[in-house]
Amino acid sequence: MKLFYGLVIHSKSIDDLRFLPNTALVVDHGKIVFIEDNADVDKIQQQHQISAENVIVLKENEFLMPGMIDTHIHAPQYVNAGFGLDLPLLGWLNKYTFPTESRFSDLNFADEVYTRVVANTLSNGTTTAMYFATIHKESALLLGDIAHQIGQRAFVGKVSMDQNSPDYYIEEKSSAIKEIEDFIVTLQSKKYPNVQPVITPRFAITCSMDLMKNLSQLAAKYDVNIQTHVSENPAECEVAVSLHEGCRDYVDIYAQANLLTAKTILAHGIYLSDKELEVLHKYQTSISHCPNSNCSIRSGMCDVRRLMTQGLHVGLGTDVSGGFSPSILDAMRFAITVSNLLSLSKSEDYKPLNYKDVFFMSTLGGAQALGIGDKIGNFEVGKDFDALVINLAQTDGNLELWLNESIENRLSKWIHLGDDRSISRVYVHGVEVKEGASNVLRVKR
Ligand code: GUN
Ligand code: ZN
Repeated sequence: MKLFYGLVIHSKSIDDLRFLPNTALVVDHGKIVFIEDNADVDKIQQQHQISAENVIVLKENEFLMPGMIDTHIHAPQYVNAGFGLDLPLLGWLNKYTFPTESRFSDLNFADEVYTRVVANTLSNGTTTAMYFATIHKESALLLGDIAHQIGQRAFVGKVSMDQNSPDYYIEEKSSAIKEIEDFIVTLQSKKYPNVQPVITPRFAITCSMDLMKNLSQLAAKYDVNIQTHVSENPAECEVAVSLHEGCRDYVDIYAQANLLTAKTILAHGIYLSDKELEVLHKYQTSISHCPNSNCSIRSGMCDVRRLMTQGLHVGLGTDVSGGFSPSILDAMRFAITVSNLLSLSKSEDYKPLNYKDVFFMSTLGGAQALGIGDKIGNFEVGKDFDALVINLAQTDGNLELWLNESIENRLSKWIHLGDDRSISRVYVHGVEVKEGASNVLRVKR
């Protein structure tokens, strides 16, 4: 059992961000068993019979927040982060992405890269990641092993694609179906408590309707999440619809393949029509908003307010390496900036996203988008304890300036100016993991 005591910040909903002073939070076997603000810490320590070394009292310059959730990241593309951003989506995939991903048939290379991506995202406060791997089953399984060993909560997707891909990086439909079923069965058989397989058709251009229909059957059979891309780039939308005869629009392709479920998350969704949003809402399918990627490969600006107004759950994604940064703090800032820019051409009552909105999207909103809002995302009794201790002393050295501010302003400053140095402790399912992640990186170097 562990007892945390200090300032706690979490969201109850998008409109309800709570700052809880002097809060006692008790964790037992990875779960939150007690939380009370303005609490008497000694009394609670006694009540729960917690030994002194298991009491963590936060300082004035620290606060506790839920772990952050990256709802869309390509683990193999970590190799390319920060370069090759000169082409839009379809050209970028062919020139940079497919050649890099094809290298993950090599398990040594996969081990090196996947260890770095898991350790670095964890160090940056990503306690849950929704990963695309590559088409290679063995290295996708290795990504699951690495996430488990280092201690990150992860959804791992072996990518499926059987058309319109280069000869050196494509699957044959029947083997794609066999491989993905093997992948799910093998990963589930490892019984990792925090790592799950996810069905991952790359997108409608590289997947035949028949493959996608088979994938949706497997998702139902094994009760797993589904992830893919939708409506990211105008040229992509045109090609996707032209390839799938009889489909009204991009969303209809996935609807006809039975891929739209309450456990499905679609990355981007920039150009969705009102009709498409209505269909997604009907299936309770979510969107991963990836603003760094959308800016970096010039896909467009997604109006997140519009998606939320239609009732969709929207989480944040780094989309490495369309996005150049593996940090969700970066995704939060890009989301605010894109929303600010969009607001310039909207009416006066349009509310651009602010720091409170993106805090929600990176925590509870992300959890809801992944269908696990009842398990993580904020601090409620019964939920798993995925959390970060933020230490403002590790920001710009001018701590007094920060501490003179209200706690709202401190949070806003941290969201805009903080980085991994200020994320001093990271917990997943009650286990402290940041030190381990840093050690792994040191060993690898
Ligand atoms: N659409 C299909 N594949 C990809 C990918 O790897 N990255 C992005 N951003 N979009 C995609
Ligand atoms: Zn992507």
